[in-house]
Amino acid sequence: MARIPERFIDELLARVDIVEVIERRVPLKKAGREWTACCPFHNERTPSFYVSPAKQFFHCFGCGAHGSAIKFLMDYERLEFQDAVEELAQALGMPVPYEGGARAAEDHGDLYRVLEQAAMWFRQQLARSVEAQAYCARRGLNADVLDRFRIGWAPGGWDGLQRALGGSAAQLHLLEQAGLLAGNEQGRRYDRFRERLMIPILDRRGRVIAFGGRVIGAAAAEGHDGPKYLNSPETALFHKGRELFGLWQVRQASGSPSRVVVVEGYLDAIALHQHGLPVAVATLGTATTAEHTELLFRTAPDVVFCFDGDRAGRAAAWRALESTLPRLRDGRQAYFLFLPEGEDPDSLVRAEGGPAFAQRLAAAAPLSDYFFEHLASDVNTATLDGRARLAERARPLLGRLPDGAFRDLMLEALRARTGVGAQRAAAPPLPRPAARAPSIRRSLVREAIAALLADPALAQTVAPPWPFAGLQRPGVDLLIELLELARARPQAPAVALLEHFGGRREAEALHRLALAQFPEGHDLAAEFHGALAQLARQTHAARLEELTRKLQQQGLDAAEKTELQQLHALRRTGEA
Ligand code: UTP
Ligand code: MN
Repeated sequence: MARIPERFIDELLARVDIVEVIERRVPLKKAGREWTACCPFHNERTPSFYVSPAKQFFHCFGCGAHGSAIKFLMDYERLEFQDAVEELAQALGMPVPYEGGARAAEDHGDLYRVLEQAAMWFRQQLARSVEAQAYCARRGLNADVLDRFRIGWAPGGWDGLQRALGGSAAQLHLLEQAGLLAGNEQGRRYDRFRERLMIPILDRRGRVIAFGGRVIGAAAAEGHDGPKYLNSPETALFHKGRELFGLWQVRQASGSPSRVVVVEGYLDAIALHQHGLPVAVATLGTATTAEHTELLFRTAPDVVFCFDGDRAGRAAAWRALESTLPRLRDGRQAYFLFLPEGEDPDSLVRAEGGPAFAQRLAAAAPLSDYFFEHLASDVNTATLDGRARLAERARPLLGRLPDGAFRDLMLEALRARTGVGAQRAAAPPLPRPAARAPSIRRSLVREAIAALLADPALAQTVAPPWPFAGLQRPGVDLLIELLELARARPQAPAVALLEHFGGRREAEALHRLALAQFPEGHDLAAEFHGALAQLARQTHAARLEELTRKLQQQGLDAAEKTELQQLHALRRTGEA
């Protein structure tokens, strides 16, 4: 796949002005050397979102969001990486170079086209299969909903699709890239979907990006191999944790629906649409992800999660609740509906009709009820001990709620149920920007990293082997990784180095360190080299101690004896 060379990203980030990029979208106020705003990624009343012109990145002390101008555009505008780069580069008049051919989005044009052709071909096959049509009829699917969801049929045999659409090597390659072909070890390619009812998965713009294929009765009875539902593999276009089946149809039915209902199965969503509830979407056989919840709330202010009443359903509901908490800013509400055991939305809506199901939806439990009910389900809140236990469980979860009236209400509800004060239930205190610069007590490792991020060129003044590599201390590996990265990319500004850590756990700590402010005229090089030397001394001292202990307990081999002598020599010269 075409990629943008790192060199270009480094140059772009060195030339772009992040303040300008963000200011165009979020009004910023000057605060000392930085700019601040209420964070656009979570709801808050007092600004904890900082943009640093010197470091060229943003950081939110409230929710931890952080990154470069590229990352900001990706998160704020929901752009793919390459699109965000294109947008920034265009504004600066820099043409984006691509390694390995044309730009990925252009390749994707072909992928979309072949998926669209496949959907049409499956649709034609449905018209030819009496068996598949009978299955649709059995499941109560009418012609209108088959049309709206573009449901089709993949016939038996191994190469129907391949023969119909794989006319050239390029076309075959695309079918493969689209996840429509599978191959065996001998390199033989065959149709991935065979004898399955084909349900296209559409993206936000209504383009086919994947399929779900269900075995139908007869095939299943004959011992059809494979799962009940076979889904497209993850491809360049399809990431199942990001997509919601039926969302396109929901948006077609209403520009701004007041609520959206999340169900577990493809056919559950389809059945609700058919029965006058075109508000249903389904996750694709995965748990509800944070990306799902964000997408749901961008679609409608009210989200109803609908799950089976069994144990698996309850577990899935709680996971959905957890991914919802951080996104519940004021004006957004989540509800939970549990169905009677043995029923799913499809079976229920077909048995009792749309209006009855709509009544169930209207009676769904608000998140707050479900939250306390679930947490209290195995504690006796009549006792002091039980109430304390409930408070203890609720507190960290409520801490994930964004600032706002809803959070206040939940804390109030907790207090009413347990008698435990709301202020103790608040989130752990976050470093207040005013207090943070002097209060950062930096360890040596942090000191070295902070200096390096303030001036990445320092990496060129040192070289491996790293004398502190063996030191068992948090952050040492990170320091080494950063040193090697900066040495390998001498032109990269700090923000480009930070970008490298992307979604990794360490990224946030690195951004915080990068915000460290050194006084004007501070000798960064001295600080950096001082910290590295001190780390080396500590490594030597630790090893010296280890070897001395071993000498006393079990003796040393020849190599260890030499090492010990060297360490003693170093100590005499003050290096250990
Ligand atoms: P269920 O097995 O609960 O089936 O799967 P269902 O939705 O009631 O399907 P029908 O009514 O028997 O047709 C729920 C969802 O889990 C995913 C699918 O997205 C399915 O809709 N799933 C299930 C898979 O991806 N693979 C499977 O083998 C089974
Ligand atoms: Mn079902």
